[in-house]
Amino acid sequence: MTCPVTGGGIPPGPELFTREFVADPYPAYAHLRAHAPVHRTTLPSGVEAWLVTRYADARQALADQRLSKDPRHSEAAWKQGKVGVPGEQRSGVGAHLLNLDPPDHTRLRRLVSKAFTPRRAEDFRPRVQELTDRFIDGFAASGEADLIHDFAFPLPIYAICDLLGVPEEDQDDFRTWAGMMIRHGSGPRGGVARAVRHMRTYLRELIHRKRGDLGDDLISGLIRASDHGEHLTEDEAAAMAFILLFAGFETTVNLIGNGLRTLLAHPGARAALQREPDERIGPAVEELLRYDGPVELATWRFTTCATPIGGVVIPAGEPVLVVLASADRDAERFAEPDKLDLSRADNPHLAFGHGIHYCIGAPLARLEGQIAITTLLRRLPDLELADPDAELRWRGGLIMRGLQRLPVRFTPE
Ligand code: HEM
Repeated sequence: MTCPVTGGGIPPGPELFTREFVADPYPAYAHLRAHAPVHRTTLPSGVEAWLVTRYADARQALADQRLSKDPRHSEAAWKQGKVGVPGEQRSGVGAHLLNLDPPDHTRLRRLVSKAFTPRRAEDFRPRVQELTDRFIDGFAASGEADLIHDFAFPLPIYAICDLLGVPEEDQDDFRTWAGMMIRHGSGPRGGVARAVRHMRTYLRELIHRKRGDLGDDLISGLIRASDHGEHLTEDEAAAMAFILLFAGFETTVNLIGNGLRTLLAHPGARAALQREPDERIGPAVEELLRYDGPVELATWRFTTCATPIGGVVIPAGEPVLVVLASADRDAERFAEPDKLDLSRADNPHLAFGHGIHYCIGAPLARLEGQIAITTLLRRLPDLELADPDAELRWRGGLIMRGLQRLPVRFTPE
């Protein structure tokens, strides 16, 4: 077997991007941190990119303004749909926070921050609780469930639809489109492009309708914010609504899915959380985000000039991927990084990124993760894996890390 981690004086290590790697990438990242912390590799798509694996370098790279978010810096790869948000090249979602740099990013981020405040997320608490209970009601009497399909997947999509102000009768369409995106995450891009196109067309029409009938939802908030001084075009509003959905959906599915899987594999930690859920859930979710977070690699960045990172000078025009999952296991920053410690006090993890692109949905994601996990463990206290010996399959794909299915059993409610 050839080993892409060898060469250039690096001792042989675990291969990247194999099935074993996808199941447990942490040993390969530990090897890179030790021997090639800033490492050029060929991605499964054929694109050559740099992986940044140490915590200190990752934090620096995330905040470095010499790294652009505009995928057109890597023109050929962008045209082939190999960098940027999947499906965008064909569907043309347009400019949004995750592919813009200052000053456009600054203006749009200011506008969305006015509408999407931590207070708005907190006001959403009763609704998230209601949705959580509704999805558990759907399987609680049966004694078994797939926690991805039946629970982690629907909760964030309906929550974001509510937040944006998508009418209830249309929300099932979003569930269908979101399913197309998640199923096709690592496969043919046609499904993703189609789903993105449906969402874009729908959101454009919704924004148009709402202009004449503002409510207290987030889309109305965006329109109001743009009416006070700074301008947000209808295209920009549609791109913003789309990126909130896109960035806030699969990530939260993975927080709930990976988090529950980790808890099921650590009975002691899980029992302590079940005994004192209200006191422990805050730091517990932070540790679950650090230990096996939803976003393995931060979204694409591109060098605009020769840029030194961790002692390596990366030439201009190169794709750079900051490996959040590796940074958050770096022993230079975290004591006993491979140990799950739900009451870890010193935990400045990078699961939500860092710098100007820091996750704007973090308060909502934390709320959803905390409510989903505590409610499930309270209502189904003897929850366990349906088959402890079965291998769990991961969805694959480059940026995200999440399970395909999480089959469990429990005493029916
Ligand atoms: C940005 C993680 C949930 C909306 C980011 C970034 C990360 C991240 C790592 C930075 C990407 C980069 O720098 O390349 C997560 C995780 C979540 C989560 C782990 C769940 C556990 C959400 C939710 C929303 C959301 C619920 C909205 C409803 C966004 C947006 C950005 C972003 C709009 C772009 C911000 C910008 O570029 O200024 N997220 N996210 N995220 N996130 Fe989240």
